[in-house]
Amino acid sequence: MCGIVGYIGHREAYPIIIEGLRRLEYRGYDSAGVALFDGTDLKISKTKGKVSDLELRINEEITKTGKLGIGHTRWATHGVPNDVNSHPHISNSGSLVIIHNGIIENYESLKKELITRGYKFQSDTDTEVLINLIEEVKTKEKVKLGKAVQIALNQVVGAYAIAVFDKTRPEEVIVARLGSPLAIGIGDGEFFIASDASPFIEYTKNAIYLEDEEMAIIRFDKKIKVRKIKDDSLVDPYMQELQLNLEQIEKGGYDHFMLKEIHEQPKAIRDTFRGRLLRNEAIIKMAGIEDNMKKFLNANRIIIVACGTSWHAGLVAEYIFEDLARIPVEVEYASEFRYRNPVISENDVLIAISQSGETADTLAAIKMAKSKGAFVFGVCNVVGSSIARETDAGAYTHAGPEIGVASTKAFTTQITVLSLIALRLARAKGTISSSDFRRYLLEMELIPEKVEKALESDKHIRIVSDIYKEASNFLYLGRGFNFPVALEGALKLKEISYIHAEGYPAAEMKHGPIALIDENMPIVVIATKAEHYDKVVSNIQEIKSRKGKIIGVITEGDTVVRKLADHVIEVPDTIEALSPLLTTIPLQLLSYHIAVMLDKNVDQPRNLAKSVTVE
Ligand code: F6R
Repeated sequence: MCGIVGYIGHREAYPIIIEGLRRLEYRGYDSAGVALFDGTDLKISKTKGKVSDLELRINEEITKTGKLGIGHTRWATHGVPNDVNSHPHISNSGSLVIIHNGIIENYESLKKELITRGYKFQSDTDTEVLINLIEEVKTKEKVKLGKAVQIALNQVVGAYAIAVFDKTRPEEVIVARLGSPLAIGIGDGEFFIASDASPFIEYTKNAIYLEDEEMAIIRFDKKIKVRKIKDDSLVDPYMQELQLNLEQIEKGGYDHFMLKEIHEQPKAIRDTFRGRLLRNEAIIKMAGIEDNMKKFLNANRIIIVACGTSWHAGLVAEYIFEDLARIPVEVEYASEFRYRNPVISENDVLIAISQSGETADTLAAIKMAKSKGAFVFGVCNVVGSSIARETDAGAYTHAGPEIGVASTKAFTTQITVLSLIALRLARAKGTISSSDFRRYLLEMELIPEKVEKALESDKHIRIVSDIYKEASNFLYLGRGFNFPVALEGALKLKEISYIHAEGYPAAEMKHGPIALIDENMPIVVIATKAEHYDKVVSNIQEIKSRKGKIIGVITEGDTVVRKLADHVIEVPDTIEALSPLLTTIPLQLLSYHIAVMLDKNVDQPRNLAKSVTVE
């Protein structure tokens, strides 16, 4: 987590840095800071709080001039979020400046050693240790900054994306990465540095994404040099043309990114199956699957690893894969899987799901499975992300940038990709008839329209939200394909409104959670027409007789649950396996409206960050 941004070139750095920090704020917002060098003075301003707090502070503290600058927005790991622990950090001589995203795991032993050599520390951070280690190497070994950074990084255990400069040699910035993303925008006589490309898309479409264990020496008057940190070998970096545009990362008239992203889902789902779902020809075409069909067809089982919302998409996929393609599936929290000693063989296929493509636990799970011989397939949203590059093959979700910290369109597009894969494999295995296959393709194509229809309940959901916004707890119940949707609905509410919520399979209620039900407990029940509909209706009866307040998510036109429930929200009918793509929508809106009514920061909920690059 944490966002880093930097600039060296012919423009004033400050506007680029501050706007860049705003765009990267989804990565962490515990504190923020900038360092600017104007040819004479190094000016640093930093503060606990958000980028908007930093702007106020800067106005009082420093002049905003200088053509070299770096900035940071922090998700705290070592040291509480306060002014002192905020980045940038400077070395003891006051000459070297650093911003860092990641964790230096051996910082305590390094710090002790530096203290014995007379170094003093202001903050509790691992980053201040790193910049002083670089200074110590530079002074002791009498080497240039780039070499000092390289030697220091070879002593470090952990993860980092860093940018460092020396105010006595302001013509260069050194950047390096291991485990945290780092993009370099290449302009005409200017360079941009950032955790992702969003801070510089209006300036250049050319970017280099550093690979793990690479560093770059960026001199504004010269070409950039990329080297391997370990063995100093020169690397010929791959220049990527960015597809991102400014409109995609702006709110576009919506109050929040989350609301914009909820409403973008019809388009996002369409973009996801565009060119892949060819209904007239009755085929699904996905290069990553076609090229590796044997691996999938010979797989003993598929193991899905992911975290959070992506893990919920994995659970939905488990139901779909098993139902359609008859392949055994296990779904694992990446954070647990990587630290177990799982039995993995060469005949296993691992699917890693990640919106950001940077989640540290998912990345580690991939590496572990690969080392044991499994074939690893990625389902990512961010193009060129670490997970996308680390996997053997993959399929992008094409949801477009997701900026709201609470995942919405990433979830539905992940389910879309995974459904396409399941259908393709089912067809190849012959576990689905050609008429059923065609029926699925037709229905899949109608999903975006049906999502649009589901979004029309927005006003009604606002009314329901108003009634229940003061509740302290919520239960979410669903069965089968919609059990993971119940988990996802509960997660959405928890993370943005801070109301405690739990998701359960509806039938599990009688094994414990039913004890929680009284007249103050709102219970969201996904009760769409499905195989176990009657059983869900019975569960609703059980809740009702204990005076629980029922918010039913029902299929359009259903009168049975309508009579029983206190409130209902309708979604269009579809094939049961595809229903999570519709039932999720009202749950996203419910959590959104409740959070807004409670005056919570919907796009940047407390303690969270969009890209979780720490374990
Ligand atoms: C919840 C949410 C998180 C992420 C999780 C995994 O709304 O966004 O739970 O789903 O941190 O992130 P990715 O998908 O980027 O690996």
